[in-house]
Amino acid sequence: MSAPKSTNIHWHAGDMKRDERWQNLKCSGATLWFTGLSASGKSTIASALEQHLCSKGISAYRLDGDNIRFGLNKNLGFSADDRAENIRRIGEVAKLFADSGCVTITSFISPYIKDRDAARATHEKDGLPFIEIYADTPIEVCEKRDPKGLYKKARAGEIKGFTGIDDPYEAPKNAELILKPAENSVEHCVQQCLDLLVQRKIIKG
Ligand code: ADX
Repeated sequence: MSAPKSTNIHWHAGDMKRDERWQNLKCSGATLWFTGLSASGKSTIASALEQHLCSKGISAYRLDGDNIRFGLNKNLGFSADDRAENIRRIGEVAKLFADSGCVTITSFISPYIKDRDAARATHEKDGLPFIEIYADTPIEVCEKRDPKGLYKKARAGEIKGFTGIDDPYEAPKNAELILKPAENSVEHCVQQCLDLLVQRKIIKG
């Protein structure tokens, strides 16, 4: 991780301790990092999970790849460097949300292991859980679904550097959870996430 560009800056921890902040909440802060190909189902599952948690009064918030590229990351494209910066920023933002006591759900292709590992390291250095969830959907299924018509465009050469077609996707080697959205329902996948959250004591059973 590179040092800040700014000099003469000093960390101010503030008076509020994390334990104190979290003690009356219904959950403890954590980041659930969904990764997988475009159209793998990660955003659908992330959204259903967010809705389920919020309906139980648990603070949950979703950061979504496409959406974030309309605002915070509007100056980034899809080169390897831009994708790295995309994931670096989201790793930092997710960490802040998690520190606030929120179940933070990120949904980004995040194709490179080193970028995901850097987001993990940022969390772990700060004592915050980082749970990597791989939406393991075969590319053939993603391409058949193609809800945004992007695979078709990529095959036609109208999009260059499309993940899974002419750009790499590095599958996780040690994800905390592997979902199979092509074989299981959204509800089943959400339940698998909830079971893991209970097991990790992030929410109560
Ligand atoms: S990431 O690789 O940097 O993590 P991110 O999750 O933010 O990607 O954005 C992926 C979304 O952008 C896809 O779901 C798709 O809708 C859109 N997209 C547009 N161009 C590309 C591309 N070249 N590769 C992958 N996704 C793309």
